[in-house]
Amino acid sequence: MKKILAVLMTVLLMITVAGCGSEPSKKDNTGEKTVGVLMPNRIFKRWIADGGNIKRDLEAKGYAVDLQYAENDIPVQIEQMNKMIDNGVNCLIITAIDSTKLVDTIAKAKKKNIPVIAYDRLLMDTDAVSYYASFDNKGVGVLMGRHIEEKLGLKEGKGPYNVEFFAGSHDDNNAHFLNSGLFEILQPYIDNGQIVVPSEQVDFDQISVLRWSQEVAEDRMEEVLNKYYSDGKKLAAVVVPSDRIGYGVANVLEKHGYKVGENWPIITGQDAELEAARNVLSGKQSMTVFKDTRILASKCVTMVEAVLEGKEPEINDTVSYDNHVFVVPAYLCTPILIDKSNLHKELIDSGYYTEEELNGK
Ligand code: BGC
Repeated sequence: MKKILAVLMTVLLMITVAGCGSEPSKKDNTGEKTVGVLMPNRIFKRWIADGGNIKRDLEAKGYAVDLQYAENDIPVQIEQMNKMIDNGVNCLIITAIDSTKLVDTIAKAKKKNIPVIAYDRLLMDTDAVSYYASFDNKGVGVLMGRHIEEKLGLKEGKGPYNVEFFAGSHDDNNAHFLNSGLFEILQPYIDNGQIVVPSEQVDFDQISVLRWSQEVAEDRMEEVLNKYYSDGKKLAAVVVPSDRIGYGVANVLEKHGYKVGENWPIITGQDAELEAARNVLSGKQSMTVFKDTRILASKCVTMVEAVLEGKEPEINDTVSYDNHVFVVPAYLCTPILIDKSNLHKELIDSGYYTEEELNGK
């Protein structure tokens, strides 16, 4: 008996010493909290970068991360979220495919006291979102509009120019914000005839591309060219809301005989994908908008930390993002216009891509 007691005492002592002496692991700091991260798809390279950056930053702070991509399948995203809720995650970061379809599941998270942060895309029609981390989405449209204004010399009264417009997915709040910024700049030039839209398609519903799909955009561009340009009219610009839509438009333009360096129209873009960066250098794309996913991810992670510690995170916008239930407090990062003149500085010198990646090596 004495022997057993002695052994027990020694073991107890060892445990106590180990407990006092060792540094708490990072996970101990956060009480082993898990953050569920829901991303829409891996079709757009940015979501791969966003997901990766969020995971890395959260893990560096000691959180466990459950990162899931839904490949634009809404029931899959709902199922992923349900699983995370059932598994008892401590916080959810959500980039919705179509947020209106997530309302009930988000309500379920609220019931379980799981805070929800909307990442890049606002979660609409719910009171159960705590904060919103994004970019100035209207500002993205303003950057595109100003670029067109400058390149076509619209301020100097030049024109008329044939221009066609594309918009993002109707179920993505960002698409509407971008469009409003864009038309704020360009509508006056449509009204005074400096910009002519041969298809006459300018309403959001006419120009919107479901799920921001490259293929859907290709089909529409093909139809527009066949219907409205078969008499030999030439395009001066195609205003598109994302790089991928731009690739689709460019494919169709090539088929219709447009050539870079000869009669190639101005094409806009968004996301600063590698392929888009190469296209900017080759002249196939006139600009893109760089939204540094490293910055957005780190802002979002500070929101998670604050929320889980019961503190107020840093926000810089309390007026713009009404989700039909309330104005969601937001932190908006600044988008940057990229053209040939600043591409290296913004994308390579900042370490976002390497020179080798840009060169396709
Ligand atoms: C994002 C864009 C992205 C688009 C398509 C939008 O919500 O803000 O950066 O290009 O979704 O994925």
